[in-house]
Amino acid sequence: MGSTQKFKKVKTAVIGCGMISDIYIRNLKELFDIIDLVAIANRSMNAAKEKAETFGIDRVMTIDEVATSEDIELVVNLTPANVHYEIIKKMLEAGKHVYTEKMFTTRLEEAEELIKIAEEKKLQIAVAPDTVLGAGIQTARNYLDSGIIGEVTSGFVSVNRDQCLMSELFRFLQQEGGAIPYDAGIYYIGALITLLGSVKRISGFGAPALLHNKQLLFVKGNPDSWQLPGTNVLCGSLEFENGALVSLHFNGNNVGGERTRFELFGTRGNMELGDPNKFDGPVTISLPENEPVKMPFTHGFNGKNMLGEPRPFDGYGHRGVGVADLAYAIRQGRKNRLSKEYGYHCMEILLGLDESIKTGKVYELKSRAEVEPLKPGFYSSMFDGMLRADAELSLIYPRN
Ligand SMILES: NC(=O)c1ccc[n+]([C@@H]2O[C@H](COP(=O)([O-])OP(=O)(O)OC[C@H]3O[C@@H](n4cnc5c(N)ncnc54)[C@H](O)[C@@H]3O)[C@@H](O)[C@H]2O)c1
Repeated sequence: MGSTQKFKKVKTAVIGCGMISDIYIRNLKELFDIIDLVAIANRSMNAAKEKAETFGIDRVMTIDEVATSEDIELVVNLTPANVHYEIIKKMLEAGKHVYTEKMFTTRLEEAEELIKIAEEKKLQIAVAPDTVLGAGIQTARNYLDSGIIGEVTSGFVSVNRDQCLMSELFRFLQQEGGAIPYDAGIYYIGALITLLGSVKRISGFGAPALLHNKQLLFVKGNPDSWQLPGTNVLCGSLEFENGALVSLHFNGNNVGGERTRFELFGTRGNMELGDPNKFDGPVTISLPENEPVKMPFTHGFNGKNMLGEPRPFDGYGHRGVGVADLAYAIRQGRKNRLSKEYGYHCMEILLGLDESIKTGKVYELKSRAEVEPLKPGFYSSMFDGMLRADAELSLIYPRN
């Protein structure tokens, strides 16, 4: 089969040096052949310098310098959700392709404006979550498409956590986009779109976050009390274009010890999936008259990080695969898999549920999105845990 080396590397800069940046920087620097990570930028230059030194990146830049740089083609935006709009707009206007962490933006009008700029300038936007390109969700999609459980008629997803407690540590959660549907629920929405396609209609009931006025962790610098903006308990219903009906249950007013549930029910059998916030969620299929069977992964990007010394968030293993897909999309002149339509559809579902909670009415989606599946048969590790490089090839070839 071919090689990744026939493609000219894409010169890339990372903006944002917070908690999630380590795993991105390491993977973009060392794992993906298509990426040439040349610069790190941040609001605080000290943090950018520190990351550049740790990971051996040559250039430390201000955000303005990234925009005016001649050579950088792709910018990876790792800032909090409420900052996404201004960073993405600046980079698109400067002629850069952008990969952004979730959510796309916090308001639909802002995302619409960014989509318009990208289209006018013939630039691409890719939006996290990229866990949908991981072994778990891609394997699930492969088995669904094989017809083994027949047509999916319904499903159920659930996640609970103490989102307020988490926001003591992850302070960006205290801002818009930090409550459970937008921060964690979005992984379930992204996975459902990848597996079942576009959603047609939605409705929901919800409750706000509790006022958080008790310091639970030994961390300094938090206000005396705060309330996460938006909905923090959500029960919702999704009707997909293909007819499948899916129930959502997200509870951020709960306790630590996250429990996740992800099940799809078909006309011939059922499928249970793992946590879509990870790359390696197991896929278990139950057919009549059989015990449930844990299926083998048909794809790579299994979340195992085997590069260098352990670093924070190594468990997020293959974050950055969406950036690599965007880089190949640029070189191959095709649309990237985590397209602006995917980012917008995820966001319209979550904000549309808020709208339904407010009005008490069903919300009809205006957008639609499909995620092009990866080619199976390419893997990320050997039986003994050694790193394998061929998973990257699955980004290059069409599935069939
Ligand atoms: N922490 C996680 O577990 C995690 C996991 C997956 C995705 N994410 C997403 O990644 C993004 C970043 O998360 P994080 O945990 O690294 O956050 P963080 O708060 O630790 O870091 C955010 C970074 O953005 C920079 N920043 C903040 N405001 C800015 C502004 N106005 N202009 C320019 N830069 C600004 C900060 O200097 C910091 O470097 C968020 O969108 C989040 O949803 C986080």
